[in-house]
Amino acid sequence: MSGISRSGSKAKKADAPDLFGPSGAKPVEKLSEAEAKKELDFLASEIAEHDRRYHGEDAPTISDADYDALRKRNIAIEERFPKLVRADSPSHRVGAMVSDKFKKVVHRIPMLSLDNAFANEDVEEFVARIRRFLGLKDDQEIVFTAEPKIDGLSASLRYEKGVFVQGATRGDGAEGEDITANLRTIKDIPLRLHGKAPDVLEVRGEVYMTHANFAALNKRQEKDGKPTYANPRNSAAGSVRQLDPSITASRDLNFFAYTWGDASKLPADTQWGMLEAFKAFGFKVNPLVRRCETMKQLLKFYDDTGSKRAKLGYDIDGVVYKVDDLKLQQRLGFVSRSPRWAIAHKFAAEQAETILEKIDIQVGRTGKLTPVARLRPITVGGVVVENATLHNEDEIARLDAREGDTVIIQRAGDVIPQVVRVLTEKRPRGAKPYQMPRKCPICGSHAVREVDEKTGKEDVDRRCTGGLICDAQAVERLKHFVGRDAFDIEGFGGTYIETLHDAGMLKEPADIFLLAKHPAKLGKVLAEKRAEQSAERRAKEGKAATETKSKKKDEGEGKLVENLIASIEARRKIGLDRFINALGIRHVGETNARLLARTFHSIDAFIEAMESGDALEQLNAIGGIGDVVAEAIKDFFDEPHNRKLLGHLLKEVEVQDVAAPKIKGSPVAGKTVVFTGSLEKMTRQEAKVKAESLGAKTAGSVSKKTDLVVAGPGAGSKLTDAQKFGVKVIDEDAWLAMIEGL
Ligand code: IVH
Repeated sequence: MSGISRSGSKAKKADAPDLFGPSGAKPVEKLSEAEAKKELDFLASEIAEHDRRYHGEDAPTISDADYDALRKRNIAIEERFPKLVRADSPSHRVGAMVSDKFKKVVHRIPMLSLDNAFANEDVEEFVARIRRFLGLKDDQEIVFTAEPKIDGLSASLRYEKGVFVQGATRGDGAEGEDITANLRTIKDIPLRLHGKAPDVLEVRGEVYMTHANFAALNKRQEKDGKPTYANPRNSAAGSVRQLDPSITASRDLNFFAYTWGDASKLPADTQWGMLEAFKAFGFKVNPLVRRCETMKQLLKFYDDTGSKRAKLGYDIDGVVYKVDDLKLQQRLGFVSRSPRWAIAHKFAAEQAETILEKIDIQVGRTGKLTPVARLRPITVGGVVVENATLHNEDEIARLDAREGDTVIIQRAGDVIPQVVRVLTEKRPRGAKPYQMPRKCPICGSHAVREVDEKTGKEDVDRRCTGGLICDAQAVERLKHFVGRDAFDIEGFGGTYIETLHDAGMLKEPADIFLLAKHPAKLGKVLAEKRAEQSAERRAKEGKAATETKSKKKDEGEGKLVENLIASIEARRKIGLDRFINALGIRHVGETNARLLARTFHSIDAFIEAMESGDALEQLNAIGGIGDVVAEAIKDFFDEPHNRKLLGHLLKEVEVQDVAAPKIKGSPVAGKTVVFTGSLEKMTRQEAKVKAESLGAKTAGSVSKKTDLVVAGPGAGSKLTDAQKFGVKVIDEDAWLAMIEGL
């Protein structure tokens, strides 16, 4: 759309005459202050609504050009009347529609994240895990690099024949946005690598903004009557996602290189060497990076870096430890989305003091009672905190937390806020020690602490024994079922689940797929809930509860039901891994569900195995599934009610098989391999993980179905079994030769 200039002086009538609000397309310079205010109010809600339709529903109702015209008009009015800029002005949200205007880039090597350590013990466990995995002897050292964890946004820079050809954001790790033009403007990013570079090299690192540049930018923004940024990270992110690279260029961003993605050949065989190579190629590498050999050195690096933090001039939120030797890194590999060879040791969380007004109990999907602290709202590190977890009754007793107490809370990253300490000196008179309820607050069943049969120890958690009769558990299971990692039904949030459950329309997962049969009832229940919510809101705001039932609203309700049903229908087909996760079996989350899916491939095979006499043995044979998890899975299938629900569900959905990872040239893809005896060049766990990554199934015992046994010295009955069943047996060296180069 043309003709709407920023000052509005040349504004012609818009192509879509009713695009603009109360003042039509009246030139901005002619608007009175009152008109301007009205129109800014209109534009704020109109633009927000278009953003929602575009991003939330993927169903925009206006063209990009019209949308841009709305935004420009909003800016033009704000420029003329800076006093009237609303706190929620659309211009504060930098380019909500911009994201889809960048080309997508598929990362050839995914950009993964790091596991977090908060306490020193977490770091000790990280190192111990690595030592166990590699089977290192006590006197064998591991060298780590220790690096500051820069708080910016990560970017991947692709160089071909030494020339910068493409730069991308991390995005969801698999696919990012092409921001090449913007990254070219950052002076720390060489456009051509110095020296002799590999044919292909993707250098990865952090784009960040220094405190000084951040302060100067906000000052400029303020002077120009433009929105300011909340922190350097947001401003770096906003700056690289500008459509106009000259804006990025004016923002003075920096870049530290710290890792890599795709590469035709690596210039070094250690992390340290790679950082040296990056420097030689012309990159900036953080000057504080050190090599450490002992736990003491790692923790000293953490403390030293922490004390330098305030003076660095840019934000860091922890340090990162990485195994230095790249061969070891490769052996260690990844667990779900993070490398086993690295960890982020985060700095202590931000803390604040507030009042614990009440302790409420939440009942989770496995019946666990979690005490939640309802707090007097307080801002911690820029976020308003109203609730914090109290974990369990032992934790409440340890803290001696009581209703009315003044407490110190802390928030670290996206983790749920915690209560750290009670200021007993500020305790009000008569505050009583907290008593955890002995009955489930939802269904009234006994809530007990289970006792471990083997150790005789009480579990820290109190659980509702109501099982399937407990509404809270049923609702939480349904919420989990529709959630992101399970059926991922878009737009089916917690409130809908609760409402439909209360209305008796949703009792078990299969019911979700039957909702489409009752659209009228569905619409009615949801409409009633909405009316109730808005009445509540009005009551809260002290307004009269007038019925505002318009035709437009009814249409909205119809659309809502239609959309919800469409989202449900879109998910009738589901992969076995997500399906298993959706079942909500205790101890079976995303990772274990994936393991099970890869082992059994189809839902029929999985159910058959679980209903067979040797379910536990089959589960125990899966590398990565321990006793407790195996028991929980078996318990789930032993419960007739669960089998019934599963049967109902399978009538409604199609569960798609998960193929074993097909590895090109893998001699063991689809085969069952057993490792026995002691291995000398690797631990048994490492060997199993490797075999599984090559598409093999690993088992703990030898049967007729076993394809290969890798036997080391000291192999006993498994070796005899192999000979009995005529299974091929090889030694460790033959195994290594067989998989060499894979
Ligand atoms: S290494 C496979 N090193 O932290 C993981 N990451 O939580 C490779 N980050 O997405 C990442 N400083 O944005 C690495 N020295 C550093 C880092 C660093 C900051 C960020 C990065 C990553 C996130 C992981």
